[in-house]
Order: sequence, then C-alpha cells, then structure tokens
Amino acid sequence: MASILILTGSPSARSRTSALAQHVGDELALDGHDVTLLALRELPAQALLAADTADPDIAAAVRQVIAADALVVATPIYKASYSGLLKVFLDLLPQSALQGKVVLPLATGGTVAHLLAIDYSLRPVLVSLGARHITTGRFVLDTHIDHVSGGPVLVDETARDCIARTAAGFRAAIGEVALEPALASA
Ligand SMILES: Cc1cc2nc3c(=O)[nH]c(=O)nc-3n(C[C@H](O)[C@H](O)[C@H](O)COP(=O)(O)O)c2cc1C
Repeated sequence: MASILILTGSPSARSRTSALAQHVGDELALDGHDVTLLALRELPAQALLAADTADPDIAAAVRQVIAADALVVATPIYKASYSGLLKVFLDLLPQSALQGKVVLPLATGGTVAHLLAIDYSLRPVLVSLGARHITTGRFVLDTHIDHVSGGPVLVDETARDCIARTAAGFRAAIGEVALEPALASA
C-alpha cells in the first residue's frame, strides 16, 4: 500500500478545501493506503515566509513530502490561481521533491470561470518539481461543499460523482506505478 500525503493550502481555519481533501483522504484510506493530511496553515508563518528549511517544523514537512509515494495537493483558487500559502511551501521544496510520485491536484473556488486554474497555474509547478504522473485534477465549487455541519462534505451529486471518479483515477495510477518494477523485471 502507498503512503499518501495530502497538502492543503488554504489559510482558512474552517476550510472547504481541507474538508474536500479530508473527504478524498477518507476514500483513499478505505483501500488500506496510509493517508496523512498536512495543513500548511499550521506551519510556522515566519519560517515559511523566510523559506527557513532549518526550522524543525518546516524540515519535518519537507521530509513528509519526500517520503510520500503519492500526494494530493489541494488549494482554494485565489485571484485566479492557487493560494499564496501553497506557493511559499512549494517554493522551499528541493527541485526534485516530487520525483517518481503520483500527484492529484484538487481545487475549490467560487466561480467556474476559474476551473482551469489548476491546469494553467498549478500543474506546471508540479511538473517542474519532477512529479512523475499528475492525474486528472478536479475543481469543486465552494457552494457544493459543506464544511461545517459534519454531514456529507459534497452536497452536490455531480460533484460527488466527479470526485469519486477523480479518486479512482488517482488510485489506478498509484497501482500502475507500484507494479512497474515487477513488470520491468519480468
Ligand atoms: C481572497 C480570495 C480570493 C478569491 N479568488 C477567487 C477566484 O479568483 N476565483 C474563484 O473561483 N474563487 C475565488 N475565491 C473563492 C474561494 O476560492 C472559495 O470560496 C474556496 O472554496 C475557499 O476555500 P477555503 O474555504 O478552503 O479557503 C476567492 C476567495 C478569497 C477569500
């Protein structure tokens, strides 16, 4: 089974993005994957902004990224792009931090006008960090997420179906990558 790290890049304490990410993480954990969620807002702000990789919390977070087999990178869309919080964290990672990893980008936003933001803004950064396989990302409207009641997170049936398909694609990619060494030696 894979170790999956979920990065959530919302600065909000009650975050729709984190609720969505947790929902996807719960689905992945059902398969027996080892899933950990890292909320970037909980990292020390001063160290994050100064790219202080010697800070123990930052260093531990970087180690978590490097140790993971696969990542879910979840962000709110702010000003037509991914969040600044996510950017400062990605900027302090080593250049090959995502090498060999399967990555699923997720975004939440207020308008479908920006549903392509994960493809035009986030995906190129993930590529530059060496991600091996970036599976089809998904944008979910904030009005389709219930992050407060404790009931089902996805309140829209289409969004629920789309996220289930997105998680299935991610799972399949993790399985394919895990099989590659065996296939290569066969
Ligand atoms: C400062 C700010 C800028 C935003 N800019 C956009 C935007 O450009 N496009 C969009 O679709 N949504 C935008 N939104 C809406 C958020 O992306 C949306 O509500 C998201 O689900 C919030 O996620 P969170 O609860 O995890 O912070 C913006 C919200 C804020 C607070």
